[in-house]
Amino acid sequence: MTGLYVHVPFCAVKCFYCDFAAFSGQKKQVARYLAALEAEAALAPPLSPETLYVGGGTPSELTAAQTAELFARLRRAFPAARWTESTFEGNPDSLDAETLGVLAGEGVTRLSIGLQTADDALLKSVGRRHTAADFARVVGLARAAGIPAVSVDLMFGLPGQSLDSLRATLDFVLALAPEHVSLYGLQVEDRTLFAKRGVAEDEGLGREMYEAAIAALARAGLEHYEISNYARPGFRSAHNVNYWRRGEYLGLGCSAASFLGGLRTANEERLSAYLSAVEAGRRPTAESEEPIGREALGEEAFLGLRLIEGFVPSRALREAFAGPWAALKARGLVFEDGPRWRLTRGGVFVANDVFREFVPPFTAEEAVTR
Ligand SMILES: C[S@@+](CC[C@H](N)C(=O)[O-])C[C@H]1O[C@@H](n2cnc3c(N)ncnc32)[C@H](O)[C@@H]1O
Ligand code: SF4
Repeated sequence: MTGLYVHVPFCAVKCFYCDFAAFSGQKKQVARYLAALEAEAALAPPLSPETLYVGGGTPSELTAAQTAELFARLRRAFPAARWTESTFEGNPDSLDAETLGVLAGEGVTRLSIGLQTADDALLKSVGRRHTAADFARVVGLARAAGIPAVSVDLMFGLPGQSLDSLRATLDFVLALAPEHVSLYGLQVEDRTLFAKRGVAEDEGLGREMYEAAIAALARAGLEHYEISNYARPGFRSAHNVNYWRRGEYLGLGCSAASFLGGLRTANEERLSAYLSAVEAGRRPTAESEEPIGREALGEEAFLGLRLIEGFVPSRALREAFAGPWAALKARGLVFEDGPRWRLTRGGVFVANDVFREFVPPFTAEEAVTR
């Protein structure tokens, strides 16, 4: 399967934890940017993607007319595409009935809304401008517009966030019956205000919150299907599942990543560098690498293990990582479920430790087999 990701980098303000290519105060560049996306698509290899994901940044910072223009440009660039799933990301303070009407008319099947927490004081303390009530209103508008599925982004481990606060957020969100929830543990990224302030990740409380959330979401009928993702039956994100199965995808826009023909590339992050490359008729690639041998096999493992149901490893993977796999098994972090490799329940909580076994640098002895 092939997916198409389109990055929209505009945001009203920069949240204190966020390290994505997301810029405030740049909206005067929107018209140029939309034209650049179409021009970049023309420079890419011809494809017929089956899923579309418009992410950010904050795509809902586009006006309704700009949103319609974006879809018109994507239709021109990919005339053969028939999206089996199409997702649009937005924030509660910038989604309105007019834009939602455009999205429904374009056949968008999933609206992914960033809430993070339903605690208004906490929202303010991480730099967000909306309230929990704004979110509830937008969910109602999306339903009224006829968008088939709503997904909600939440975070745990925020500074000052208690277990009770997370529980209250889940109760609030689950009462609105979303089809899908993404729940991320805070990662303190360099270059963010949190990093400058010396915010630390609290592993102990983080794990308690993660466990409580998995249980609450399961009680509400949302299956935990990936480390950070939960869905009602039939509502998993096909676009994202394709990433974890090492499927192909094209990314358009600044910072967007692609994986095509075994080659992984990432676009220029800076808006000006992205725009000037595309406007000069050049692909805006900033980085590119072709994982081969042990590295490519390791990718198959650390991506496939993100899925709670696991994956069926290739023979080459089983042979190349027999030693690390046996060691992880002995530690109770992974297991074999018929032909599938999976994380154990304990392994899910320390997934990053497990994944480390599958990324370079490999130990000296194993590196010889590269
Ligand atoms: C690409 S972001 C953009 C979505 C949208 N603009 C918003 O703010 O809701 C997708 C999600 O990643 C999560 N996220 C962003 N930075 C994070 C961080 N440092 N640690 C954990 N999760 C993060 C947030 O839940 C966010 O909604
Ligand atoms: S979390 Fe979302 S709204 Fe906040 S800066 Fe990042 S992309 Fe923008």
